[in-house]
Parts: sequence; C-alpha cells; structure tokens
Amino acid sequence: MAKNKEFVMTNSFGATSTTDDVLAGIDLKGKRALVTGVSAGLGVETARALAAHGAEVVGAARDLKKAKRATGEVGDALELVELDLASLKSVRACAEALLADGRPFDVVTGGSVIPPPAAPRARPRLRPSPPLPLLSPSRARRE
Ligand SMILES: NC(=O)c1ccc[n+]([C@@H]2O[C@H](COP(=O)([O-])OP(=O)(O)OC[C@H]3O[C@@H](n4cnc5c(N)ncnc54)[C@H](OP(=O)(O)O)[C@@H]3O)[C@@H](O)[C@H]2O)c1
Repeated sequence: MAKNKEFVMTNSFGATSTTDDVLAGIDLKGKRALVTGVSAGLGVETARALAAHGAEVVGAARDLKKAKRATGEVGDALELVELDLASLKSVRACAEALLADGRPFDVVTGGSVIPPPAAPRARPRLRPSPPLPLLSPSRARRE
C-alpha cells in the first residue's frame, strides 16, 4: 500500500472514541463479518456496531444461549455459530461449517479472551494469542 494512502487510527481516534465514531459514515451493506466472543464485552459491541452500519454478521461464541441473550438488540443481521477457541475440535468444526456455507467474509475480528488449554497433554496445544485488531472493520473499509 502506498504510504500516502495509509490510514493511521491513532491520528483520528483515542480512548474516548466509540464504535459509532469509528464507523461514522461507513456503509457496510453487502459486507459480511465474523466476530468472535459475542457473548460478552467487546465482541457484543463489535457485532452490534457492524450490524447497525449494515453488515451481515456471524457471531461466534462457546455458549450460544448466553450469546443469544447478550445480542438480543442486534436483530436479524446476526447469525450465531458455536466456537470454543480452547478446543481444536470446536475450531475445526466451526471452520468446516463456515467453509461449507461458502459465503466469504469481508471482515474477521476477535472479541474473545483466548485462554490457554487447561490440560495441554489431554488437548491439542493451542497458544494463547492477543485479540485481533479491534479496529479492523474500519481499517478494512478505508484501505
Ligand atoms: N475491554 C477492553 O477495554 C479491552 C481493551 C483491549 C484489549 N482487550 C482484550 O479484548 C479481549 C476481550 O475483552 P472483553 O473486555 O470484551 O472481555 P469479556 O467481556 O470478558 O469477553 C470475553 C469474551 O471471550 C469469550 N471467550 C472466553 N474464552 C473463550 C473460549 N475458550 N472460546 C470462545 N470464546 C471465549 C467469552 O465467552 P464467555 O461469555 O463464554 O465467557 C466472552 O465472549 C480480551 O482478550 C481483552 O484482554 C479488552
């Protein structure tokens, strides 16, 4: 990407910016987003904001009942899928279901805490990782 086209988030947004500030004026109609951790916190707000700006959102959560309660206000633009990021079996099942569905994603963003496996010997090893960039939806639109 040419340097003069680079959009630097920290020049425009800060600690008091909201999701709606970040997405102001951005129309996400026709865009599809995958958001993890839609049962609490940042994942719920990310899903809400993306849907409010027109995106079709697939929300992943390990507890679908909790996610349904937490995302009640998001509406029909949100579809929930089961995903436990501490379980490779669950990750594979979720990925295979999304691939079988065949519709690509324009935005993938994470709102999940990713805990280390409780019993590394009993489970496939998954390294804890930091969340994906939380501002990726707007960054993706501006690039
Ligand atoms: N909040 C902030 O200001 C902030 C700032 C920078 C970075 N972060 C980072 O962003 C991430 C989310 O923060 P948050 O404040 O939104 O946390 P939160 O309210 O505790 O939400 C965490 C989410 O992660 C999910 N989760 C935990 N373990 C999971 C697993 N094994 N598989 C799938 N989902 C799992 C939780 O699901 P359950 O509901 O099932 O537990 C919940 O949906 C954290 O890593 C945090 O460190 C947060």
